[in-house]
Amino acid sequence: MNEKKKQQYFTKGLLNWYRTSDRPMPWKGEKNPYLIWLSEIILQQTRVEQGLPYYERFKAKYPTVIDLANAPEDELMKLWEGLGYYSRARNLHATAKIIATEYKGIFPKDYKTILSLKGVGPYTAAAIASFAYGLPHAVVDGNVYRVLSRYFGIDLAIDSTIGKKEFTKLAGAVLDVTDPGVYNQAIMDFGATYCTPKAPKCGHCNLKKSCVAFQEKAIAKYPFKSKKLKKRTRYFNFLVVEDAKSQVLIEKRTGKDIWQQLYQFPLIETEVATNEDALKNQDLFKAILKSTGLKSLVPSKPFSQMLSHQKIVAVFWKIKIAKHKNDAKSDRKIIASTDLENYAFPRVIDLFLQDKTLYLDMR
Ligand code: ADE
Ligand code: SF4
Repeated sequence: MNEKKKQQYFTKGLLNWYRTSDRPMPWKGEKNPYLIWLSEIILQQTRVEQGLPYYERFKAKYPTVIDLANAPEDELMKLWEGLGYYSRARNLHATAKIIATEYKGIFPKDYKTILSLKGVGPYTAAAIASFAYGLPHAVVDGNVYRVLSRYFGIDLAIDSTIGKKEFTKLAGAVLDVTDPGVYNQAIMDFGATYCTPKAPKCGHCNLKKSCVAFQEKAIAKYPFKSKKLKKRTRYFNFLVVEDAKSQVLIEKRTGKDIWQQLYQFPLIETEVATNEDALKNQDLFKAILKSTGLKSLVPSKPFSQMLSHQKIVAVFWKIKIAKHKNDAKSDRKIIASTDLENYAFPRVIDLFLQDKTLYLDMR
């Protein structure tokens, strides 16, 4: 079979598979570009099962892009809580405001303008352009690299410039231009449910006879990668300072680091896991606890959270004091413990709070 024939055969086989596949999702067949955009932003770096309830909640709360633009920042962040990668939520909000004002509430209709929106990369732009307007742009992401590299037996590294270029070219060549939206949804679903990273369903796959990786019995070799990422580990010590009236201190994360705009307990980051004596020597510890009447200090077990490039190991130091200081210069808030649920926290803090609820109930 020549190359073009093989590409056509792939496209046909994929679309045949899609006709028999059954994966109902609320955004399938959706033509409203705002809702498509919303679902695609939620699904970036998120599994469909996890993203689905968020999509439903956002759609119910903000039925139009104007509603989303007018949402208070803290309300939106709270609704996003647990999805992670919070820059997505901030970009979503910023873009909604731009569409509401500069575009008069009308979602852009051409690929270039869609791509220019904050938080919208080539993948999301292709998804919106093809689903909403039937424009011939192929989605390319990790799923697509995997499917194409296996089926066509391509050993170029997907994290190399040449590899990316070749896969993007091939993805465009196998796109079904008669219905790009259906084709894009088909390859997304195929990568997510059949040609999966581990244990793909090759036995039932209608492409297996012509799939190079399957025929070579070398599925695990694909896709090729040139470098391995090593995650950086960071040690976070959160000070959960509670006074006799069960009030705690929290603060909003600003600055350029992870978790912007989320709340946290005062944080002391250390190079390695720390102990009580070393912690008590930290300037921030002394500043916060000076003349508050420290009664007890107990560390939690370590909680961890994986991010794309780092691993966070968090210890929560439960500190009892007599009374919080009223420090007008500080941006920290003193709130009742029962109000903690009204703030958006990073996942690792939520994990601790869920655990702590149990612990408090038992006392
Ligand atoms: N991941 C990103 N977009 C998706 C979509 N439209 N359907 C399924 N998975 C997706
Ligand atoms: Fe993917 Fe296996 Fe099908 Fe090849 S045979 S396309 S590796 S699921």
